[in-house]
Amino acid sequence: MTSEQMKMLLADMSLQEKIGQLLQLTGNFYAQEGLATGPMSDMELTREQVDCAGSILSAIGAKQLKRIQSSYMERQPHHIPLLFMADVINGFRTVFPIPLAQGCSFDPALSGEMAQVAAKEAARTGLHVTFSPMVDLVRDARWGRVMESTGEDPYLNGLFCQAVICGYQGEHVGEKDHIAACVKHFAGYGAPMGGREYNQVELSERTLREDYLPAYQAGVEAGAEMFMTSFNTLGRVPSTANRELMQDILRKEWGFDGVLISDWAAIGELLAHGIAADKEEAAYLALRAGVDIDMMTNVYANHLERQIREGRVPEEWLDMAVLRILNLKNKLGLFENPYKDADEVYDEMPDIEKAHRSFARKAAPETFVLLKNDGLLPLPEAPTEQVRSIAFVGPYVEEKRICGSWSLFYKMEENVTIREALEEAEAAGKLTIPVSCGKGCQVLDYGQERDGFRDHTRNESTREELEAMEAEALALARKADVVVMPLGEHHEYTGEGACRTEIGIPEHQMELFRKIHAVNPNIVVVNFSGRPLDLREVSRKARAVLQVWFPGTEGGHAIVDTLFGETEPSGRLAMSFPYNVGQTPVYYSELSTGRPHVDGAADGRCVSRYIDAPNKPLYSFGYGLGYTEFTYSYVTLSGAVLARRRTQEESDSGEEQLTASVTLTNIGGRPGTEVVQLYIRDLAGSVARPRRELKGFQRIRLAPGESRKVSFAITEEMLCFYRADMTYGSEPGSFMVYIGEDSDTENGAEFCLQ
Ligand code: NOJ
Repeated sequence: MTSEQMKMLLADMSLQEKIGQLLQLTGNFYAQEGLATGPMSDMELTREQVDCAGSILSAIGAKQLKRIQSSYMERQPHHIPLLFMADVINGFRTVFPIPLAQGCSFDPALSGEMAQVAAKEAARTGLHVTFSPMVDLVRDARWGRVMESTGEDPYLNGLFCQAVICGYQGEHVGEKDHIAACVKHFAGYGAPMGGREYNQVELSERTLREDYLPAYQAGVEAGAEMFMTSFNTLGRVPSTANRELMQDILRKEWGFDGVLISDWAAIGELLAHGIAADKEEAAYLALRAGVDIDMMTNVYANHLERQIREGRVPEEWLDMAVLRILNLKNKLGLFENPYKDADEVYDEMPDIEKAHRSFARKAAPETFVLLKNDGLLPLPEAPTEQVRSIAFVGPYVEEKRICGSWSLFYKMEENVTIREALEEAEAAGKLTIPVSCGKGCQVLDYGQERDGFRDHTRNESTREELEAMEAEALALARKADVVVMPLGEHHEYTGEGACRTEIGIPEHQMELFRKIHAVNPNIVVVNFSGRPLDLREVSRKARAVLQVWFPGTEGGHAIVDTLFGETEPSGRLAMSFPYNVGQTPVYYSELSTGRPHVDGAADGRCVSRYIDAPNKPLYSFGYGLGYTEFTYSYVTLSGAVLARRRTQEESDSGEEQLTASVTLTNIGGRPGTEVVQLYIRDLAGSVARPRRELKGFQRIRLAPGESRKVSFAITEEMLCFYRADMTYGSEPGSFMVYIGEDSDTENGAEFCLQ
């Protein structure tokens, strides 16, 4: 459809029909037998309104979506097709590691590929839009949704955001096997006070712009078709009514012309926030802020019409919103083919595509982070003198729920557990070392239960069964030379609505750990979690700790491959692991303070420190081991001075640059991958500058004994920031560049911008 035709269509639509386009309902409203009256009356909607809703979320299956679409289009006065949307977060039927794990790969292209697979699987069931990526910057491990973010760094988050959008949308969103991306949650949702869900966010404009906004802006630059508002207030204004954020920054400053959707019921929540006296005011505020779609409330549907007729809400606001929605439908090609890629064959597909599975298996180890290893890993596949048998003991040995709380479309039985992967490797003759398995306890404690988006789970075991489980585990551990303990938090203890004030491995699992440790201290802990946990005790007592997050469908295979050295863990932390919960939020790019403290230094009382814990996290951003060892040479610079651009002409003539290099050598006995990281510190600016900032990284694979020169360009652009007067640009002065294995590296050199 041409834009002219679209405008003509708009001109021909009734007021009610236009308001309908702004309404988003769940699939429940479109039950098999026709329109469901229950949800309709709960939401005080009429049949005509439901007939005119513009989009649907969380309906699933090609057959069902086709049925809904065709009967809807018959009733819709202009036969305008619906948009189908859902939360496809870390995969669809093939589930990949959770986004926080993906951040640890330091490999945005890998996530781009995952998004492409997810888009293909989702598109074939008839979906048009995914509510992903979530690019909220996160620094507080108490918050349940850190699992949905790629971590604490603005630069890294921006790169992941772009790669994932390209994966979902392809060159053009209307192409086969592609869907539209929705960047969320705009803005600052990842910084709720106290790490408590939906809580208020307080950020200075400088911190907001410097740290939080860049990843969202990267989403606009990558061409994301949609944005979602966040639940929180920012500077005491709920995002869903925040004109400055939505109109001034998102639309005017960044030029976003796609669809803006509220988060679930967020327009209605303007009343609970106490900024709207009634639903009419809520409708007015949200539409004025530029929110196009009202997800799951009747605020727009029931409270705009009169205001428009009486002239309190300009009809032009509504028209602009409708046009944006129609435009997205048009870009997806729905006016020509309202079913897009929906194909019933995929509803019946008995197995996940082989290529998707093998990709998931290969990708997951890139997201695993080896936190400690005093020589126990990799484990031998055949018995050796030191290791004649291995016991796998812990609740995650047989756990199928390994996809994270935001995976809604997988089939549980398709997930591979550790035990299944071990049995397969044994049957294939790959693993000849004797291996035994026992759970020891359940993931949840005795009688504990938890509600999720997908299912409700409960530890159904009796006390006697649990005692027998533990006794069996202890017996296995006693007999083995090494004990691998897959432990961790339940996946429903992370994600939306899953904030915690204690962020350890559940206490009943720690009790098992202590008992096992008393009979056999040769322990490798494999930790499943959706957030950084307080791993002090585990990292002190276990001989190796492997962080595997929630690894997805192929989790069991990937973990066994990694433990036995078929592949290596090559992730690096995208979010710091705090020393304890009292340290949160803790992150590498903090400011130095006027009285900085270095852990261990005897610098007196009145310095910026805790008296009962170090300042540094237990494991810092960028940290992670592999199975080999690397050395870095000193940093060399191509010059000591970088010329600053002073005029437009200089700017146009291309950027000056310095080159910073190191020589990286694999001094271990195995091939391995190192994530070489580049950080910059501005030594003095017109405002206080971060301790260091990630500005580049490269994943480098080297054979044993191999050396390679690794170089990074340093440009003026990398030195820009929001200066004292809030203009964005560089300032002359001295800088340190660091190149090393993590954010604590001291391997640096100084240069000047002048
Ligand atoms: C609420 C969540 O905050 C958001 O991320 C999600 O996309 C919507 N619900 C729709 O499920």
